[in-house]
Amino acid sequence: MSIQKIDHDAALFDLGIDSLGAMSIAAALEDATGKKLNPELIYELDTIRLIGAHLDSVRTPSASAVTSGVSDSGSSEGASNKETPNPTSGTEDQAGEDPISYFTRLNRKVNLAKEQGVYPFEPEICSHEGVWVECEGKRMLMLASYEYLGLLGHEELNRAAEEAIADFGTGHHGSRLLTGTTSNHCDLEFRLADWMRAEDAIVFSSGYVANLATISALVGPGDYIIGDSLNHASIVDGCRMSGADFREFKHNDMHELTSLLLESNGRRTLVIVDAIFSMEGDIADLPSVVATCKKHKALLMVDEAHSMGVLGETGSGIQEHFGLAPGDIDIKMGTLSKSLAGSGGFVAGNRQIITYLRHHARGYIFSGALPSVYANVAIAALEVLRNEPSRVTQIWKNVEYYLAGLKRLGFDTGTCETPIVPIMTRTNDATLKFTQLCRSEGLLVAPVCYPAVPMDAPRLRTCITSSHEQPELDFALDVLERAGRQCGIID
Ligand SMILES: Cc1ncc(COP(=O)(O)O)c(C=O)c1O
Repeated sequence: MSIQKIDHDAALFDLGIDSLGAMSIAAALEDATGKKLNPELIYELDTIRLIGAHLDSVRTPSASAVTSGVSDSGSSEGASNKETPNPTSGTEDQAGEDPISYFTRLNRKVNLAKEQGVYPFEPEICSHEGVWVECEGKRMLMLASYEYLGLLGHEELNRAAEEAIADFGTGHHGSRLLTGTTSNHCDLEFRLADWMRAEDAIVFSSGYVANLATISALVGPGDYIIGDSLNHASIVDGCRMSGADFREFKHNDMHELTSLLLESNGRRTLVIVDAIFSMEGDIADLPSVVATCKKHKALLMVDEAHSMGVLGETGSGIQEHFGLAPGDIDIKMGTLSKSLAGSGGFVAGNRQIITYLRHHARGYIFSGALPSVYANVAIAALEVLRNEPSRVTQIWKNVEYYLAGLKRLGFDTGTCETPIVPIMTRTNDATLKFTQLCRSEGLLVAPVCYPAVPMDAPRLRTCITSSHEQPELDFALDVLERAGRQCGIID
């Protein structure tokens, strides 16, 4: 296509530009104009006309500004859940511009979608009963929830919350280290260590904080971190925050992991992987990761946010799933906000590591305690899970039934093998239309586009729980089939 034929108002990504293309365009524009353009802004601005107008408003940077403002993601696969557009990056370039118009320009797509009534995020749930929710004036089947074991609203968990509020109130007295620790926290840490087959555990105010605080406490400048390229954003943020030399290996590729380990040059090395990958729904090849880490004397940390309550016969996670030995995984991170239907995060592992974290993890020391109520809710959830392991078996029966149904209909579910089931949609427009059609028929699904996944791999993310019953899965498949045909995602 010649330059003259490109419509200045066409969306660049509809012309087939992907994240790598955006980076090349930004580099070429910088070469041509001397003005720095964050490639993520190309996604926000989207058309040649808007990018041109934006560049007109950008001052030529001073020499010192040239090295700032471009995403430094080293992702080998373009997966960019680590690339949250940073509106402040490059602000030096926009000196003189009214900051509100700057942010308004970045919000262009969001504002437009809201005006057109097609904004798909933050659907407002007014109430829920089992797997059904009241959302935006409509009864919908929830097919996008992380609460894999159907414990949200469980009477034992609700009772535990009420008891803790009666005992300790709704908040805390301060950070855990000073005055925020209650008997519920201590009890929960003891039970989590036992559940995760570890020596000790430490509870944080969220899973995100657990990853950030733990990784940045365990390694620092001069150390070396290697992560799977599809790791969750909270892991990536922790790796970056640590200041250690941070590299990524191609998803589940042991050959690349080994090559990177060979470059450790005697530095203290931490390898981090998700147990279940949150956007793909596949499982880490952990036996190989364990063997490789042992050979190279690297510490291994595994994020069990989506595997806890899901993998292993009793739901204790990836160690049980693969029959690994105690101690094969040095550090297990988990969240209380998914299977355990509460809120908070934790890390379980070797006692010396946990003791060290209590005294060095800044997100633990300089933040108020997880409210005691959530510690007690997690205790109750673990107890329900211990008494009812059939919940775990039921998830897998549901996954098998639902996945077989999707495959029969011709949907592309990628490498999924767990309750997180992506449905590939090829374009952002199709993703949004598919989402809307499903919701209009009473099926609550979640659209996932860049930057949560690579630009060329948008999808619906659906999640299966142990509480879905066969007629509900049939209803979901029925709606997905009609909507999928209407959007051209299946024939
Ligand atoms: C893999 C993974 N790790 C960590 C987190 C953060 O957990 P939390 O929601 O408790 O902050 C998430 C949340 O979605 C996740 O998917």
